Amino acid sequence: MTARESPRPARRTRLVIDTDPGVDDAAAILLALASPELEVAALTTVAGNAALSQTTSNALRVLELAGAGAVPVAAGADRALAGWRRPGHGSVHGPDGLGGALPGEPAGSPVARHAVELIAGLADEGPLTLVAIAPLTNVALALAMHPDVCGKLERLVVMGGARLEGNVSAAAEFNIWADPEAAARVLGSGVPLTLLPLDVTHQALLTAGELHELSGGGRIGERLGAMVRHYGSEHAASYGDGAFAPLHDVLAVLALVDPGTIELEKAVVEVDTGSSASRGATLVSTRPGSPGVPALVGTRLDRRRFAELLVGRVGEIDAALAAGGREQAGVPAAAGTAAAADA
Ligand code: RIB
Ligand code: CA
Repeated sequence: MTARESPRPARRTRLVIDTDPGVDDAAAILLALASPELEVAALTTVAGNAALSQTTSNALRVLELAGAGAVPVAAGADRALAGWRRPGHGSVHGPDGLGGALPGEPAGSPVARHAVELIAGLADEGPLTLVAIAPLTNVALALAMHPDVCGKLERLVVMGGARLEGNVSAAAEFNIWADPEAAARVLGSGVPLTLLPLDVTHQALLTAGELHELSGGGRIGERLGAMVRHYGSEHAASYGDGAFAPLHDVLAVLALVDPGTIELEKAVVEVDTGSSASRGATLVSTRPGSPGVPALVGTRLDRRRFAELLVGRVGEIDAALAAGGREQAGVPAAAGTAAAADA
């Protein structure tokens, strides 16, 4: 499957991905690295699908898998703002967060700078889009400690929330549930917001044939395929046979790579930061006059285009690596940026 090329943009979107790898995070990172429309300036890590030390190690290993070890990684928060919940419990991502598909230690290390300082430094250097595919603690801290960042971010793309049923409780989706106070702070920041809730990310599924093709493209595809298979088996254990394994986070990158792939609607969003059973719920309304912060909310996915781009572009970086290409699509040849070099 070759990805029908999107028209090459005049300027690549420079972005930082705040992440808790995580199988679907890994898929999102690989798609970003493989997309000429994007420049991945850095990854910042947070506790979520696994403990902070694990998600940071996983981020480094996913980058190295794709020959993108030059992209800086900065570790951030190991727990929620309120401090009483430390995500990283056992999850559908497996005990190491990547379904055991990338064993061993990374060759590289995270930069010495905290994630918050790296985000602020990158925002100072030029136009920056923040892709948040994990609990929002780092982003909330960055906005609180560097309020000027709000005016410097071009856009905030968040995978999180649910308009219907949650995936951690009946009301709440994991990224919001893990730190509702941080989510409320971030969504209310005033930065132009695109929100991709479970209602649209549950459509992000690969067929068996697409997974087979992904796995046959080379080492990157083979390893990502192993992650997705583990993720699918864990879902089956949790949700029953025939369960699906949605690659939620990929849509936060896809929204930047090929905006026409995801239908968006104007809405307002509120986060439940209370202590009732609905804590962490996202209340989304399109009704005029409803309370909440404005957002473009994802509703429908062109699934075939999603699969075509993910499978096709991972195959392309596999081919580039096989040909000895060091400068992957979307990855700067230089080691990171000045912000990271200050680390
Ligand atoms: O609810 C899905 C989200 O929670 C995704 O970001 C997944 O990686 C987990 O972090
Ligand atoms: Ca995630």
